[in-house]
Amino acid sequence: MDWAAFFTLHRGLPREGPGDRDSLDWALGLASPPPDGAICDAGCGPGADIAGLLAHVPEGRVEAVDLHAGFVAQAAARFAGEPRVTVRQGDMGELTGPYDLIWSAGALYFLGVSEGLGRWRAALAPGGAVAFSQACWFTDTPSERARAYWAAEYPQMTGVAGVTAQVRAAGFQVLGQRPVSDAAWEAYFSPMEQRVATLRPGADAALAAVLDEADEEIATWRACRAEYGYLVTVARPA
Ligand SMILES: C[S@@+](CC[C@H](N)C(=O)[O-])C[C@H]1O[C@@H](n2cnc3c(N)ncnc32)[C@H](O)[C@@H]1O
Repeated sequence: MDWAAFFTLHRGLPREGPGDRDSLDWALGLASPPPDGAICDAGCGPGADIAGLLAHVPEGRVEAVDLHAGFVAQAAARFAGEPRVTVRQGDMGELTGPYDLIWSAGALYFLGVSEGLGRWRAALAPGGAVAFSQACWFTDTPSERARAYWAAEYPQMTGVAGVTAQVRAAGFQVLGQRPVSDAAWEAYFSPMEQRVATLRPGADAALAAVLDEADEEIATWRACRAEYGYLVTVARPA
Protein backbone atom coordinates (compact mmCIF):
# COMPACT_ATOMS: atom_id res chain seq x y z
CA MET A 1 0.00 0.00 0.00
CA ASP A 2 1.32 3.43 -0.97
CA TRP A 3 0.16 5.44 2.06
CA ALA A 4 0.68 8.81 0.39
CA ALA A 5 -1.64 7.72 -2.43
CA PHE A 6 -4.06 6.17 0.06
CA PHE A 7 -4.41 9.45 1.94
CA THR A 8 -4.70 11.43 -1.29
CA LEU A 9 -7.92 9.50 -1.84
CA HIS A 10 -9.09 9.33 1.78
CA ARG A 11 -8.10 12.77 3.13
CA GLY A 12 -11.22 14.71 4.09
CA LEU A 13 -13.73 11.92 3.44
CA PRO A 14 -16.46 11.96 6.09
CA ARG A 15 -16.12 8.33 7.16
CA GLU A 16 -13.86 5.34 6.56
CA GLY A 17 -16.32 2.47 6.72
CA PRO A 18 -20.05 1.78 6.41
CA GLY A 19 -22.15 3.28 9.20
CA ASP A 20 -24.86 5.75 10.00
CA ARG A 21 -26.78 7.36 12.83
CA ASP A 22 -29.55 4.77 12.67
CA SER A 23 -27.27 1.83 13.53
CA LEU A 24 -25.42 3.90 16.13
CA ASP A 25 -28.71 4.87 17.84
CA TRP A 26 -29.81 1.23 17.83
CA ALA A 27 -26.54 0.07 19.42
CA LEU A 28 -26.43 2.80 22.05
CA GLY A 29 -30.04 2.14 22.94
CA LEU A 30 -28.96 -1.41 23.85
CA ALA A 31 -25.71 -0.46 25.55
CA SER A 32 -27.47 2.39 27.38
CA PRO A 33 -24.54 4.45 28.75
CA PRO A 34 -25.50 6.83 31.59
CA PRO A 35 -26.19 10.48 30.59
CA ASP A 36 -22.91 11.55 32.20
CA GLY A 37 -21.06 8.55 30.81
CA ALA A 38 -17.62 8.25 29.23
CA ILE A 39 -17.43 6.80 25.71
CA CYS A 40 -14.31 5.83 23.78
CA ASP A 41 -14.50 5.89 19.97
CA ALA A 42 -11.77 3.32 19.29
CA GLY A 43 -10.36 3.67 15.76
CA CYS A 44 -12.38 6.86 15.23
CA GLY A 45 -10.98 7.65 11.78
CA PRO A 46 -12.15 11.11 10.69
CA GLY A 47 -14.70 11.20 13.54
CA ALA A 48 -17.95 10.51 11.72
CA ASP A 49 -19.62 8.95 14.76
CA ILE A 50 -18.56 11.38 17.47
CA ALA A 51 -21.60 13.68 17.18
CA GLY A 52 -23.96 10.71 17.47
CA LEU A 53 -22.07 9.35 20.47
CA LEU A 54 -22.17 12.75 22.21
CA ALA A 55 -25.95 12.87 21.77
CA HIS A 56 -26.30 9.73 23.91
CA VAL A 57 -24.29 11.16 26.82
CA PRO A 58 -25.63 14.74 27.07
CA GLU A 59 -23.63 15.39 30.27
CA GLY A 60 -20.79 13.03 29.43
CA ARG A 61 -17.75 12.96 27.18
CA VAL A 62 -16.24 11.18 24.19
CA GLU A 63 -12.58 10.27 23.88
CA ALA A 64 -11.68 9.44 20.28
CA VAL A 65 -8.52 7.46 19.53
CA ASP A 66 -6.87 6.61 16.23
CA LEU A 67 -3.44 5.41 15.20
CA HIS A 68 -3.11 7.69 12.17
CA ALA A 69 -2.21 11.36 12.60
CA GLY A 70 -4.14 12.43 9.50
CA PHE A 71 -7.42 11.03 10.82
CA VAL A 72 -6.75 12.40 14.31
CA ALA A 73 -6.22 15.87 12.85
CA GLN A 74 -9.44 15.65 10.85
CA ALA A 75 -11.52 14.46 13.81
CA ALA A 76 -9.95 17.08 16.11
CA ALA A 77 -10.72 19.86 13.63
CA ARG A 78 -14.33 18.69 13.42
CA PHE A 79 -14.75 19.10 17.20
CA ALA A 80 -12.41 22.01 17.90
CA GLY A 81 -13.91 24.02 20.77
CA GLU A 82 -16.16 21.16 21.96
CA PRO A 83 -15.01 20.58 25.58
CA ARG A 84 -16.79 17.22 25.80
CA VAL A 85 -14.59 15.71 23.06
CA THR A 86 -10.95 14.68 23.29
CA VAL A 87 -9.23 13.33 20.19
CA ARG A 88 -5.82 11.72 20.55
CA GLN A 89 -3.38 9.69 18.52
CA GLY A 90 -2.85 6.32 20.13
CA ASP A 91 -3.20 2.57 20.00
CA MET A 92 -6.72 1.37 20.78
CA GLY A 93 -5.14 -1.86 22.01
CA GLU A 94 -3.80 0.08 25.00
CA LEU A 95 -6.99 1.70 26.35
CA THR A 96 -7.16 2.26 30.09
CA GLY A 97 -10.55 3.92 30.63
CA PRO A 98 -12.71 3.56 32.58
CA TYR A 99 -15.39 3.85 29.87
CA ASP A 100 -19.12 3.17 30.06
CA LEU A 101 -18.98 2.27 26.37
CA ILE A 102 -16.26 1.45 23.89
CA TRP A 103 -17.62 2.11 20.39
CA SER A 104 -15.59 0.83 17.47
CA ALA A 105 -16.89 1.13 13.89
CA GLY A 106 -14.97 -1.07 11.48
CA ALA A 107 -11.78 -1.10 13.54
CA LEU A 108 -11.82 -3.94 16.11
CA TYR A 109 -10.79 -6.44 13.44
CA PHE A 110 -7.34 -4.84 13.40
CA LEU A 111 -6.84 -6.28 16.92
CA GLY A 112 -8.98 -9.39 16.31
CA VAL A 113 -12.42 -9.63 17.93
CA SER A 114 -11.52 -11.91 20.84
CA GLU A 115 -8.11 -10.37 21.36
CA GLY A 116 -9.44 -6.81 21.27
CA LEU A 117 -12.37 -7.51 23.58
CA GLY A 118 -10.00 -9.25 25.97
CA ARG A 119 -7.82 -6.13 26.06
CA TRP A 120 -10.77 -3.76 26.45
CA ARG A 121 -12.40 -5.60 29.34
CA ALA A 122 -10.25 -3.91 31.99
CA ALA A 123 -10.99 -0.49 30.42
CA LEU A 124 -14.74 -0.85 30.99
CA ALA A 125 -16.45 0.74 34.00
CA PRO A 126 -18.77 -1.58 35.98
CA GLY A 127 -21.80 -2.27 33.77
CA GLY A 128 -19.92 -0.98 30.72
CA ALA A 129 -20.38 -2.37 27.21
CA VAL A 130 -18.68 -2.59 23.83
CA ALA A 131 -20.41 -1.91 20.50
CA PHE A 132 -18.51 -2.68 17.34
CA SER A 133 -19.15 -3.19 13.64
CA GLN A 134 -17.25 -5.30 11.21
CA ALA A 135 -17.43 -7.16 7.93
CA CYS A 136 -19.36 -10.43 8.16
CA TRP A 137 -20.60 -13.13 5.80
CA PHE A 138 -24.36 -13.45 5.42
CA THR A 139 -24.13 -16.65 3.35
CA ASP A 140 -22.31 -19.97 3.70
CA THR A 141 -21.83 -20.12 -0.07
CA PRO A 142 -20.34 -16.82 -1.26
CA SER A 143 -19.76 -16.20 -4.96
CA GLU A 144 -16.26 -16.43 -6.36
CA ARG A 145 -16.13 -12.64 -6.71
CA ALA A 146 -17.01 -12.00 -3.06
CA ARG A 147 -14.74 -14.79 -1.84
CA ALA A 148 -11.76 -13.51 -3.85
CA TYR A 149 -12.27 -9.93 -2.64
CA TRP A 150 -12.41 -10.86 1.05
CA ALA A 151 -9.65 -13.47 0.80
CA ALA A 152 -7.36 -10.53 0.05
CA GLU A 153 -8.94 -8.01 2.45
CA TYR A 154 -9.87 -9.99 5.57
CA PRO A 155 -9.37 -13.74 5.23
CA GLN A 156 -10.50 -14.35 8.85
CA MET A 157 -14.00 -13.01 8.10
CA THR A 158 -16.76 -15.24 9.52
CA GLY A 159 -20.55 -15.36 9.58
CA VAL A 160 -22.74 -14.09 12.41
CA ALA A 161 -22.24 -17.31 14.40
CA GLY A 162 -18.49 -16.90 14.09
CA VAL A 163 -18.58 -13.34 15.43
CA THR A 164 -20.78 -14.49 18.30
CA ALA A 165 -18.34 -17.30 19.12
CA GLN A 166 -15.40 -14.87 19.16
CA VAL A 167 -17.32 -12.53 21.49
CA ARG A 168 -18.14 -15.39 23.86
CA ALA A 169 -14.57 -16.69 23.73
CA ALA A 170 -13.50 -13.32 25.16
CA GLY A 171 -15.90 -13.79 28.11
CA PHE A 172 -18.56 -11.39 26.80
CA GLN A 173 -22.29 -11.92 26.23
CA VAL A 174 -24.00 -10.62 23.10
CA LEU A 175 -26.79 -8.12 23.84
CA GLY A 176 -27.80 -7.76 20.19
CA GLN A 177 -26.58 -7.95 16.59
CA ARG A 178 -27.81 -6.18 13.48
CA PRO A 179 -26.48 -5.55 9.96
CA VAL A 180 -26.02 -1.93 8.89
CA SER A 181 -28.34 -0.75 6.11
CA ASP A 182 -27.51 -0.19 2.45
CA ALA A 183 -27.80 3.54 3.19
CA ALA A 184 -24.94 3.15 5.68
CA TRP A 185 -22.77 1.65 2.91
CA GLU A 186 -23.67 4.45 0.52
CA ALA A 187 -22.77 7.04 3.20
CA TYR A 188 -19.27 5.57 2.99
CA PHE A 189 -19.08 4.93 -0.76
CA SER A 190 -20.76 7.98 -2.32
CA PRO A 191 -18.19 10.58 -1.21
CA MET A 192 -15.38 8.14 -2.06
CA GLU A 193 -16.82 7.54 -5.53
CA GLN A 194 -16.95 11.29 -6.18
CA ARG A 195 -13.36 11.68 -5.00
CA VAL A 196 -12.21 8.83 -7.28
CA ALA A 197 -13.84 10.55 -10.28
CA THR A 198 -12.11 13.84 -9.40
CA LEU A 199 -8.68 12.28 -8.93
CA ARG A 200 -8.73 9.81 -11.83
CA PRO A 201 -7.58 12.25 -14.58
CA GLY A 202 -3.85 12.70 -14.21
CA ALA A 203 -3.40 10.09 -11.45
CA ASP A 204 0.10 8.59 -11.34
CA ALA A 205 0.58 4.81 -11.15
CA ALA A 206 0.49 4.64 -7.32
CA LEU A 207 -2.66 6.74 -7.08
CA ALA A 208 -4.31 4.90 -9.98
CA ALA A 209 -3.76 1.60 -8.12
CA VAL A 210 -5.46 3.03 -5.00
CA LEU A 211 -8.35 4.35 -7.10
CA ASP A 212 -8.71 0.95 -8.79
CA GLU A 213 -8.91 -0.71 -5.36
CA ALA A 214 -11.62 1.72 -4.27
CA ASP A 215 -13.59 1.09 -7.46
CA GLU A 216 -13.31 -2.66 -6.87
CA GLU A 217 -14.44 -2.34 -3.24
CA ILE A 218 -17.52 -0.38 -4.31
CA ALA A 219 -18.37 -2.56 -7.34
CA THR A 220 -17.95 -5.80 -5.38
CA TRP A 221 -20.33 -4.63 -2.65
CA ARG A 222 -22.90 -3.42 -5.19
CA ALA A 223 -22.75 -6.79 -7.01
CA CYS A 224 -22.63 -9.01 -3.91
CA ARG A 225 -24.40 -7.01 -1.18
CA ALA A 226 -26.67 -9.90 -0.26
CA GLU A 227 -23.64 -12.09 0.54
CA TYR A 228 -21.85 -9.95 3.10
CA GLY A 229 -22.23 -6.77 5.05
CA TYR A 230 -21.25 -4.98 8.22
CA LEU A 231 -22.61 -6.46 11.42
CA VAL A 232 -23.07 -4.29 14.52
CA THR A 233 -22.61 -6.28 17.74
CA VAL A 234 -23.31 -4.97 21.25
CA ALA A 235 -21.68 -6.99 24.03
CA ARG A 236 -21.02 -6.82 27.75
CA PRO A 237 -18.68 -8.85 29.99
CA ALA A 238 -20.55 -12.01 30.99
C1 LIG B 1 -12.14 1.21 8.63
S1 LIG B 1 -11.52 2.59 9.51
C2 LIG B 1 -12.97 3.11 10.40
C3 LIG B 1 -12.85 4.51 10.93
C4 LIG B 1 -14.09 5.07 11.63
N1 LIG B 1 -14.47 4.31 12.78
C5 LIG B 1 -15.24 5.19 10.66
O1 LIG B 1 -16.17 4.38 10.72
O2 LIG B 1 -15.21 6.10 9.81
C6 LIG B 1 -10.54 1.81 10.77
C7 LIG B 1 -9.76 2.81 11.62
O3 LIG B 1 -9.07 2.10 12.64
C8 LIG B 1 -7.82 2.75 12.85
N2 LIG B 1 -6.92 1.82 13.54
C9 LIG B 1 -6.43 0.64 13.09
N3 LIG B 1 -5.68 0.04 14.04
C10 LIG B 1 -5.69 0.88 15.12
C11 LIG B 1 -5.11 0.82 16.42
N4 LIG B 1 -4.36 -0.22 16.81
N5 LIG B 1 -5.35 1.84 17.26
C12 LIG B 1 -6.11 2.90 16.89
N6 LIG B 1 -6.68 3.01 15.66
C13 LIG B 1 -6.49 2.01 14.79
C14 LIG B 1 -7.39 3.16 11.45
O4 LIG B 1 -6.41 4.18 11.49
C15 LIG B 1 -8.72 3.61 10.85
O5 LIG B 1 -8.94 4.98 11.07
